[in-house]
Amino acid sequence: MVELRVGNELDLDVVTDVYRDSTLGERRPVDDRERMRTMLANANLVVTAWDADAMVGIARSLSDFAYATYLSDLAVRRSYQRRGVGKALIARIQQEGGAARIILLAAPAAADYYPRIGLRRHDSAWCLWPDEAVTAP
Ligand SMILES: CC(C)(COP(=O)(O)OP(=O)(O)OC[C@H]1O[C@@H](n2cnc3c(N)ncnc32)[C@H](O)[C@@H]1OP(=O)(O)O)[C@@H](O)C(=O)NCCC(=O)NCCS
Repeated sequence: MVELRVGNELDLDVVTDVYRDSTLGERRPVDDRERMRTMLANANLVVTAWDADAMVGIARSLSDFAYATYLSDLAVRRSYQRRGVGKALIARIQQEGGAARIILLAAPAAADYYPRIGLRRHDSAWCLWPDEAVTAP
């Protein structure tokens, strides 16, 4: 039985270990401790999944609790995957976000996951990386 908790006051090493163990660590700056610390500290809606004292999953998001929740990271330990933990984390993020819609970018390994659990594809999502400039048309 997995229990969900809301809040970002978490042990950074444990969080990083969940990212690594899930494989999401391959696509997140897990070797940059300060960046990970900042990512966790400034995320204002974080839900974690626990099996007793062991953190087994995390959903890290930023929400205005009224219009938009950006779900940046969803990670479940390998040995707990495909047991409904990811779905439960997203459902709780949705519930905590009130009227906000959830927006995310799927990692390649999860591209088939989100449509499977009911999320809708949006074909006009756009990104600007920190080393890219806004240019005149
Ligand atoms: C993607 C991830 C978060 C899903 O969490 P999970 O707890 O394993 O998923 P759930 O148990 O909620 O899965 C719900 C359904 O989706 C299916 N599913 C799970 N992972 C899937 C995947 N990667 N691709 C397609 N379907 C998937 C499950 O089999 C299940 O289907 P069922 O209800 O018919 O049995 C988890 O596998 C993970 O951490 N993956 C690695 C990191 C990653 O890619 N994260 C996403 C970043 S955007």
